[in-house]
Amino acid sequence: MKDYGEIQDMRFTSKEIIKDTQALLRDTSLDVSIPLSKEDQNTLFDLLTYVRYSVDPELSEKYDLRPAVGIAATQVGILKKLLAIVLYDDNDDITEYALANAKIISHSQQKAYLKGGEACLSVDGLHEGYVPRAARITVEGYDLIQGKEIRIRAKGYEAIVIQHEIDHFFGTLYYDHINKENPFMEIKDAIVIE
Ligand code: NI
Repeated sequence: MKDYGEIQDMRFTSKEIIKDTQALLRDTSLDVSIPLSKEDQNTLFDLLTYVRYSVDPELSEKYDLRPAVGIAATQVGILKKLLAIVLYDDNDDITEYALANAKIISHSQQKAYLKGGEACLSVDGLHEGYVPRAARITVEGYDLIQGKEIRIRAKGYEAIVIQHEIDHFFGTLYYDHINKENPFMEIKDAIVIE
């Protein structure tokens, strides 16, 4: 894991994660005001800390964190459009977002999906199948890390992760997208991500 300096107190651990057995997870989240309130800044930072620490073997065990690449505030019972994502590429380079009001402003018609399906901190049950997503998206939002409104053009795994997290703002879960009759039905012209 990247060295993030001093270890933060953990506000969110696995105990705080809302599961899909709770109706709250299906509620709609609201936009936050920009500039961000101190409270919203703290929530975003604490979500980011969860994701950062969750992939570190020692810290994830110490704080009981299930590994994640992303988390939405909805998942800790805060119905605000806040999300955090931490992605490592093949060279171990990190892409991090701590976004407020993230919104997909355009997307490709072409689909993409993860060959192994998706998973979610809020889902304990097994839901196998392909989750069709837009292959490419353009997203706008306020990023706490950069301290400004940003526009993200994402494709591949990154695009899928962002769509998964934004779905939480609308109470949508990955398995809602899985074809009920045929979970592994071929998706026409889709990019398959290993
Ligand atoms: Ni999720």
